[in-house]
Amino acid sequence: MAHTSALDIRSLSLLYRNDKLEAPKDPPLSGVSSVHNDRIGLFRGDITTLSVDAIVNAANTSLLGGGGVDGAIHRAAGPKLRAECRTLGGCHTGLSKITDAYNLPCKKVIHTVGPVYDDINPAKSEAALRSCYKSSLELAVQNGLKTIAFSAISTGVYGYPSRGAAHVACDTVRKFMDSGHGEKLEKVIFVTFELKDVQAYNSIIPRHFPPAPIAKNEATQERTTDAETNTGQVPDVSATGTASR
Ligand code: APR
Repeated sequence: MAHTSALDIRSLSLLYRNDKLEAPKDPPLSGVSSVHNDRIGLFRGDITTLSVDAIVNAANTSLLGGGGVDGAIHRAAGPKLRAECRTLGGCHTGLSKITDAYNLPCKKVIHTVGPVYDDINPAKSEAALRSCYKSSLELAVQNGLKTIAFSAISTGVYGYPSRGAAHVACDTVRKFMDSGHGEKLEKVIFVTFELKDVQAYNSIIPRHFPPAPIAKNEATQERTTDAETNTGQVPDVSATGTASR
């Protein structure tokens, strides 16, 4: 399977410029930041193919693998990943631990344990999910990692509703970037896999990272430039959810 580098993954700025992402229909929840929009990426596809500094795994408290993205990451990394995970003594919900990546194209794997969604106490689930994103970002910065790709934590087996999870993910990353800690990160990528998450992120990301208004002539000029330079080698993130190469 071909590997995709952080540079190949389109930033929000580029997705807005190429009309692959639309301005929010509902009121934005944060201000416009071109700096942030240049450093947030959106990618639909298999996270194990990304040659970024770190991918974030949706693990369980044992850290010994499972189904979903956890299974895919362990299969692609090979048995040495599980052997290293075995030395970590598990991980509590909401926290994260880092390992090497072995046969994966990325440098490190950050394993975070998302909440099993509790619709009786959604606030507790939200706090735990927020902690997953925050602790993963902190681990990346502490380890000098510049590009990090998140799978949609807890939105599979753990049943967290896609839209609520996308809000938590975007808001936590936005706050981290606003706090200045994010300055050490070159790219934070949201990876979607199933259509439900593609649609959730396409409608929710623009509320947290709204597009910068661009002048008409600049838009025409820029779009032409992009059309010339854009290799079109990376999957699209179209709202229709059909990842096209
Ligand atoms: N690449 C990117 N994303 C993926 C991939 C993949 N190869 N495979 C699945 N996903 C997506 C799913 O579509 C979902 O949006 O990862 C997200 C997380 O879903 P799960 O993998 O089911 O993880 P989660 O809901 O957090 O449940 C964790 O499931 O696999 C077990 O061991 C894991 O017990 C833990 C539980």
